[in-house]
Amino acid sequence: MKAICCLLFLSVFSIISLRSLSLSLNKAYTAAITRRHLGQAKLTDGFEINIDARLNFPNPRLKKAYYALQEWKKVILSDPEKMIKNWEGIDVCSYNGVFCAKAPDDPNSMTVAGIDLNHGDIAGHLVPHLGLLTDLSIFHINSNRFCGIIPDSFTKLTILHELDVSNNRFVGPFPNVVLKMPKLKYLDIRYNNFEGELPPQLFDKDLDAIFLNNNRFSSVIPENIGNSKASVIVLANNDFKGCIPKSIGQMTKLDEVIFADNELSGCLPDELGLLENITILDVSENNFVGTIPEGFGKLKGVEMIDIRKNELTGTVLEGICTLPKLLNFTFSDNYFNQLEPKCEKPVRPELVMDYRENCLPKKPDQKSEKKCEPVVNREIDCESVGCKSQVDSDEESKKKKPPKKPTPVPKPKPPPVPTPAKPKPPPVPAPAKPKPPPVPTPAKPKPPPVQSPPPPVFSPPPPTQSPPPPPVPSPPPFDDIVLPPEVGYSYPSPPPPIFPGY
Ligand SMILES: *[C@@H]1O[C@H](CO)[C@@H](O)[C@H](O)[C@H]1NC(C)=O
Ligand SMILES: *[C@@H]1O[C@H](CO)[C@@H](O)[C@H](O)[C@H]1NC(C)=O
Repeated sequence: MKAICCLLFLSVFSIISLRSLSLSLNKAYTAAITRRHLGQAKLTDGFEINIDARLNFPNPRLKKAYYALQEWKKVILSDPEKMIKNWEGIDVCSYNGVFCAKAPDDPNSMTVAGIDLNHGDIAGHLVPHLGLLTDLSIFHINSNRFCGIIPDSFTKLTILHELDVSNNRFVGPFPNVVLKMPKLKYLDIRYNNFEGELPPQLFDKDLDAIFLNNNRFSSVIPENIGNSKASVIVLANNDFKGCIPKSIGQMTKLDEVIFADNELSGCLPDELGLLENITILDVSENNFVGTIPEGFGKLKGVEMIDIRKNELTGTVLEGICTLPKLLNFTFSDNYFNQLEPKCEKPVRPELVMDYRENCLPKKPDQKSEKKCEPVVNREIDCESVGCKSQVDSDEESKKKKPPKKPTPVPKPKPPPVPTPAKPKPPPVPAPAKPKPPPVPTPAKPKPPPVQSPPPPVFSPPPPTQSPPPPPVPSPPPFDDIVLPPEVGYSYPSPPPPIFPGY
């Protein structure tokens, strides 16, 4: 299936390049004729647009959009939910999943400001022509079956604020094209098959939320992670190696950080204690050694600390067990052999602590003496441990862990990570003020509740980390449409609110 998809992907590329080749060869003498017959418009974006001249578009932006969307539609191989069934005709603003608003630089022109095809289960790929949608501020296609890569032409999307391609079948290295989107605030590429290294430039960008979890990234975490102003960073379920960079301590805006289930190693940096505004800190399922940094006792706002499944040793500190906001402190499956008195049992009824699978003398469900003995008395010098996985723990973890991702990521896997908290609402180009609806709302049904795969979702801050949040920003049904008298097309209301709850 994947092979077919990618073959198609390649052949579409070659069709495009063949077409542009023949266009340039013939251009000299056919251009005039072609223009007369087809109303061909040469656009600055490197695409020749062939559209029947008899089609009458309200403005050139919508004409470009029509061309881009029709080209995209051509490569859609499966659309079981009939998401794009009504992508016919020149009124692109009435297409399902396409949202129009007044152009940010021209209030007299409507333009395509958002695409939201979340949960479509659509198979296909992204065509370069989508780069023609230069007024897009939102591009959401989560929970589909798009494969291939994110085209370079996406660099033309210079006002894009949100890119959500999560839960698809994208492959290849980190999509560097996102680094060239100056307005991007929300980057969600989780649940794909991206691999290789993370570019350090990612953390110099002014992003508010970065979701990279459930891919195949395998580099170290770039040292400059501390430059990021993001409030949410999720790196879980990849193969990241090395230490957590000490620069992390600079991230005073950080609300939630999840390093779970990687191959990270070394000691936990004391600098984690500088994250004054963190509510969720999850370093579980890695190869960390040494003791819990005392700095953790300064995390006054933290609600959840998960250090489960590492090789941490020593004493569980009172400073942590008594943190004022703490609700869930999970330190199971380590090698702790001592509890300070106030850690013996939760100090508040709402606090949950998981003691299991340690080396604690008086607690139930502990590791065997045989397992504990060689580790609990191991002297760990964090300096000399460095950031390389220890050979033995590496080998042990290979034995412990089944080889990662032997098969393509199974879709139905629910996102294991708590979803983000409080990304700031990014500025959006002023959407058109909806006028009173002259006609009944055209049926733009919400995507049906997803069939099988509970998709990764982006949702508003859970008050505590407990309830898995409700499904994704799906486009709200339109409550208004506008009929511009001069054309008679109906324009649906502006793009859906970006972060629900705001
Ligand atoms: C972090 O929280 C404190 C209050 O606990 C607040 O004064 C400070 O402004 C916050 N920092 C940031 C960067 O939001
Ligand atoms: C506490 O956190 C752990 C690890 O994230 C999770 O498995 C557990 O369900 C949580 N417990 C409660 C009561 O929220």
